[in-house]
Amino acid sequence: MDLKIPEALKKEHEALHEELAKLTRLPGQVAEAARKLTHHLHDHFRKEQEYALPPLGLLHDLAKGTVTPEMAGVLAMTDRLKAELPTLLSEHLQMTGALHKLAEVGRKEMRPAAVHFAEALKLHAEMEEQVLYPAAMLVGEYVRARLGK
Ligand SMILES: [Fe+2]
Ligand SMILES: [Fe+2]
Repeated sequence: MDLKIPEALKKEHEALHEELAKLTRLPGQVAEAARKLTHHLHDHFRKEQEYALPPLGLLHDLAKGTVTPEMAGVLAMTDRLKAELPTLLSEHLQMTGALHKLAEVGRKEMRPAAVHFAEALKLHAEMEEQVLYPAAMLVGEYVRARLGK
């Protein structure tokens, strides 16, 4: 079945990417710190879009009580998310280091956009750890239980 990342989450990822791309075009150390962060983010976002966020596209139907056999397709993703969760979390940790650096040079070079971006991305990662990843795994558990897999 075709699993779609909820539109709001997709837009949030795109907005973060665009914001970071803008920072890489600024002069000075901000750009350098932003480029380092881009390097960390690229692969991480790709993985999230591949298997961590699409399961959340089922939440709406599941909450309404709809469960269909095709939903079993989500299990490959949620199993992968469960297996690779430690990697995703350690990537967040690496990002945090790069974020601190970006915020620090942003303050030094009077670039409030860099400081705001660092805060926004930190909150984004916390939201994923505390809500989105667990919710996606719960989707898998629930579908598995309901379909008796
Ligand atoms: Fe993300
Ligand atoms: Fe993330």
